[in-house]
Amino acid sequence: MVDMRYTDAPLIPESMSVVGFGCWPLSGPGVWSDYSEAAAIESVRLAVDLGVNFFDVAPVYGLGHAEEVLGRALANRRDEVLIASKFGLVWDEHDQVSNNGSGPSIRAELEASLRRLGTDRIDVYQMHWPDPGCDIDETMATVLDLQADGEIRYIGLSNFSIAEMEQARLSGSVATFQGLYNLLEHNPDAYHGIPLEYRSRSEVLPYVADAGMAFLPYSPLLQGLLTEAGYDAVAVDASDVRHANPKLAGPDAPVYVAAAADLRALAADMGRPLSQVAINWLAAQAGMGPVIAGSYTADQVEHNAGAGDWELTTDELGAIDRVLGRHPKLA
Ligand SMILES: NC(=O)c1ccc[n+]([C@@H]2O[C@H](COP(=O)([O-])OP(=O)(O)OC[C@H]3O[C@@H](n4cnc5c(N)ncnc54)[C@H](OP(=O)(O)O)[C@@H]3O)[C@@H](O)[C@H]2O)c1
Repeated sequence: MVDMRYTDAPLIPESMSVVGFGCWPLSGPGVWSDYSEAAAIESVRLAVDLGVNFFDVAPVYGLGHAEEVLGRALANRRDEVLIASKFGLVWDEHDQVSNNGSGPSIRAELEASLRRLGTDRIDVYQMHWPDPGCDIDETMATVLDLQADGEIRYIGLSNFSIAEMEQARLSGSVATFQGLYNLLEHNPDAYHGIPLEYRSRSEVLPYVADAGMAFLPYSPLLQGLLTEAGYDAVAVDASDVRHANPKLAGPDAPVYVAAAADLRALAADMGRPLSQVAINWLAAQAGMGPVIAGSYTADQVEHNAGAGDWELTTDELGAIDRVLGRHPKLA
């Protein structure tokens, strides 16, 4: 049994498990490898049993599929958890995804998400990516209305620059920021080749901590590289989303694989699995909210939830810094 640790933030003053659950792997066949709906549902239920109470999902994950599976898995247990979903990425009849932060689109998205999730509210409603074609004031006015109606509880932003976040916060309170951040990607300037206009560690984390918001770090395990097994580009399905990540499956990969191997050896010296070290390195930082590790099987859920049982010491954090210092090419 895991003795899960919980955290909160001034703008979300309620208990959130330090280990969260990222639901992208619930997208269905053809997104991540080896999908099984039964395994996905079992994983979610086991996570709740182990004390995980924060689930991050998005309509675009499997074009509605992940929200449906999460909703089914949480039937009868909805009140035990916080659901963080997203808006602002929509798809057409040809499954082409585009940005849309306009009021009517957000309202339609929320209605569909509530239906798929089988709930009457979303706890954290996050704009997935900024929409350059839409005025953020219109977006914020819409989500503030939805918040006043009780259909959403907290507002979040994902992949926004500091300037964009400042503009949004002029309209109303924003409780969370979600961005790419893990042991090997401190201030990454790209995600799957998409430029990022924010620097997670050097600018966003201090900003978020100062504002009383919670930082939700995505890809905390660098999509499987920061685990005991590591990531094997040959073993995952050809359609697996990770083939689009040059840090895992491209010319940049050797730098990340070598650093992960050194960290794996350090974790072994500590007597800990690397995945738990990666989660707890994030959880140790001021301003951090739940670490939304993407978990797919019961084994992974159990393994990752185990990070909630213990904390890294100051000496261990120093040892991690020294290993990372040997890999200056990491962003
Ligand atoms: N806001 C955004 O733009 C954005 C972008 C990306 C992700 N996210 C969110 O962040 C969540 C997490 O990010 P992510 O899914 O990209 O990556 P991640 O959490 O770093 O990695 C998840 C993958 O690592 C492997 N894994 C997990 N636990 C493991 C364990 N204990 N041992 C071995 N392998 C393990 C699994 O893949 P295999 O078993 O297949 O190897 C799993 O699918 C997502 O689910 C999503 O909710 C948000």
